[in-house]
Amino acid sequence: MSAPRLYVDSADPEAAAPLLASSLVYGVTTNPTILDRAGRTAGEIPTLYETWAAAGAREIYFQAWGGAEDLLEQRARDILALGDLAVVKVPATRAGFAVGARLAREGAPVLLTAVTTPAQALAAVSVGIRYLAAYLGRMRDAGFDALTEIARMQAICAGTDTNVLAASLRTPEDAVALAEAGVPYVTAAPEILWGMLDHEATDAAAAAFEAADSVQ
Ligand code: G3P
Repeated sequence: MSAPRLYVDSADPEAAAPLLASSLVYGVTTNPTILDRAGRTAGEIPTLYETWAAAGAREIYFQAWGGAEDLLEQRARDILALGDLAVVKVPATRAGFAVGARLAREGAPVLLTAVTTPAQALAAVSVGIRYLAAYLGRMRDAGFDALTEIARMQAICAGTDTNVLAASLRTPEDAVALAEAGVPYVTAAPEILWGMLDHEATDAAAAAFEAADSVQ
């Protein structure tokens, strides 16, 4: 498995900044829904890119939109033109796949998103798309054995340059279970990522260190 990486799934610069500053996350992922949730619009994408680049992100993901292939491709190219840190997301529809495959052939960093089946993953691997986003929580809600299906996707990626970047996590333990299943990359909401660090037993131990006579 590639070395694990965490990403923050948020379009709120104030939520992402401390995670980038702490080095907990490698980069930032967004999509149109996440922009909505943060009260942002697509017109703000260039500003968000600059903000996160300045905050130390090593990859910054934005998603193309527009449904039809020509519009998706135009927007995908606009996203890639933001700079070297940009990764473009396209949905795993027929149109999104065609655009993603074309860009991947040119060597561009592409993530195929909303991948739901191992067959879709196989298609992405066959054209050298760099990342697949599979939605753990949403797949589980829909009745899939989501962890097993996502582990199958990652198994198809083995030995290739494609990897799963799992999304729609609901708990810190989801990140652990995905890593145990061989999935190297996950993106999650800020509170889930901070929750990976926080534990009351750790806080109690840290408080005891601070209270030790040796450091008074
Ligand atoms: O990036 C994935 C996200 O948009 C889906 O997550 O939390 O809405 O299931 P969620």
